[in-house]
Amino acid sequence: MVIAIDGPAGTGKSTVASLIAKKLNVTFLNSGSFYRGLTLALLESGVDIQNPDVVIDFCKKQKLDYVNSHLILNGVDVESRLHEDQVSANASPVSAIPEVRHIVNDRLHEIVKSLSIVCEGRDMTTVVFPDAEYKFYLDASIDVQAQRRFNQGVSNLSLEEIKEAIIKRDALDKSKKEGALKIAPDATYIDTSDLTIEKVCEIIISKIHQ
Ligand code: DC
Repeated sequence: MVIAIDGPAGTGKSTVASLIAKKLNVTFLNSGSFYRGLTLALLESGVDIQNPDVVIDFCKKQKLDYVNSHLILNGVDVESRLHEDQVSANASPVSAIPEVRHIVNDRLHEIVKSLSIVCEGRDMTTVVFPDAEYKFYLDASIDVQAQRRFNQGVSNLSLEEIKEAIIKRDALDKSKKEGALKIAPDATYIDTSDLTIEKVCEIIISKIHQ
């Protein structure tokens, strides 16, 4: 069984998906971690991140694993580094390269295979798991998105800077050639702006039980 959740940054996808996975006793998979992991590796390697051919070649050589909802990059748990500002700023352009998306999607399919999962990202409901049994699209106002990211305390940016960065990132994520963020016609749309995490989980769980 696949429960797929998509939506822009700061709409509560990770928190909701991981809580639902716990409640249903299935695996939680955050697909953004894969793009962030590759971006971290690229930044650390010093290769030219602006050159798509170099990026693709480099990404093909990286080993991505996912253990206990932590991203393992070439055998090292890098989960705690994935939300560094530099990684957040560069993950979207890296993920806009179609070949990078193919590398990540192939790996996601290999990892998921026979698992029951709750996965979240930008194209889980549309490209990666178009046949998912349950599909949800989480949204929120830009002010709520920025405030949530700010409250996470993982960024050194001000609230206003976070807001600007999210606007830029979401615009890029929605205009990608492949894997663009969009609302699947068969997804349940939930505006989470005025909802608690518990309420969003309740809506999703009741939809699944329906
Ligand atoms: O969900 P996140 O903020 O951790 O995602 C990091 C970046 O990766 C974000 O800019 C969008 C991109 N991404 C993507 O293109 N496709 C996905 N399935 C998940 C994330």
